[in-house]
Amino acid sequence: MHDHALSVAAHPRTVDPAVLNDAPHARLAELREETSLVQLKPNQYLVLRAEHVVPLFTDPRTRQIEGPEFVAIHQIPEGNLARFLSDLFLFSNGAAHRAKRSLFARSFAHRIMREARGQIRAVADGIVDSLPRGRSFDFVDAMAARVPADIIGAILGLPACDSRYFAERVYSLARAFSPIYPHEHHREIENAAGELYDYVEEQLCLRVAAPRDDLLTALVTDWHAERNIPFESLVFQIVGVIIGGSDTTRAAFAMLVSLLLQRPDDWAALRADPALIPGAVNEGMRYDPSVGSIPRVTKAPIRFDGIDLPPGAVLRLSTMSAMRDPALFDEPDRFDIRRSDHPRLHMVFGIGPHRCVGDMLARIEMEESLAAILDAAPDIRLETPPQMLGFGGLRQITPMQVRIP
Ligand code: HEM
Repeated sequence: MHDHALSVAAHPRTVDPAVLNDAPHARLAELREETSLVQLKPNQYLVLRAEHVVPLFTDPRTRQIEGPEFVAIHQIPEGNLARFLSDLFLFSNGAAHRAKRSLFARSFAHRIMREARGQIRAVADGIVDSLPRGRSFDFVDAMAARVPADIIGAILGLPACDSRYFAERVYSLARAFSPIYPHEHHREIENAAGELYDYVEEQLCLRVAAPRDDLLTALVTDWHAERNIPFESLVFQIVGVIIGGSDTTRAAFAMLVSLLLQRPDDWAALRADPALIPGAVNEGMRYDPSVGSIPRVTKAPIRFDGIDLPPGAVLRLSTMSAMRDPALFDEPDRFDIRRSDHPRLHMVFGIGPHRCVGDMLARIEMEESLAAILDAAPDIRLETPPQMLGFGGLRQITPMQVRIP
């Protein structure tokens, strides 16, 4: 990215976001060839090329969007939800971000997550066992949605009998992160925020009274040692972590299984050699990711490719476009589970201080859930593939009909 202080500023091309919703990969590819950024709305831009997307994550002239800004942009009324969103470490910067994130960086460290692999596999096996046989069903609902909710519940140490109550509220609250806030469901989302808060608070208090060998106990013990955030904030952050891993993993896992079932050679290769599973998970998240873009706000004027951006501009860094950029990937439109040009850190989880704390957990959840299907339901057939809708933020997956003979 270069500053050309003396050249005349160009105007970015304006693109109606609705146009990008139809065949988003093809539209993004056309635009990426033509230009490095387009304007979506007043003061809102989509950055398309890997050469800009990657450095902008950590450019000192950009910052993360703040919770209260997010609440204001989406016109979310005061209440449980607004308080929760305003407090999240996902939507904060600097010292506040570090203080809240550090608790989770320890508990979700790669080593700890790797140790949980056996527990994760046991939950995945249980879900696969419970799937219907001999009739068609929606894989997104019956399996992909249960993977993140049941697994995070098991790791945190929540009672398995609460899993339905818990999952219903998790997916309801997750809607608060849709690119367009669904105001028509506000009451339900608001209630889910309050109920999840009460539930997690109660579970934490139980562990303060009687510690257990689970992640919630570890979190509340670490918090107690430092007490650098209020207890209410600890509860909000735990709810935030649970929500952060729900829709993202649900859609990514369903899309992965669908992509593989449409390629019988890949499916057979994975059955024969489970060592190919991690590569397949990486490729699924690159090829059709569940998160399409990640927002940043400019703190200072930025000029790139001759275009001036004022401070306060919202940049949507299109990881979805960058992960199909031929400058970064060889034949980017080819789905290849043996691809050797994945960067060490997968871009779908972001780059820099806000990089996903659940990256390792998400990966292990998907690897073990795929392995569980390959072992116990290898003949599963895809009847209707899902579609991943949208190009920005959290993308939406449509139902996916499958049948296990
Ligand atoms: C395929 C699954 C997932 C994807 C694609 C994904 C994607 C992302 C991305 C792109 C960010 C960075 C946002 C930014 O830079 O502004 C992020 C942050 C975060 N993710 Fe994930 N995520 C996934 C799974 C999970 C899981 C399983 C958890 C936890 C259980 C989780 C919890 C979080 C949290 C708490 C943050 C905020 C980090 C911070 O701001 O410091 N995510 N995720």
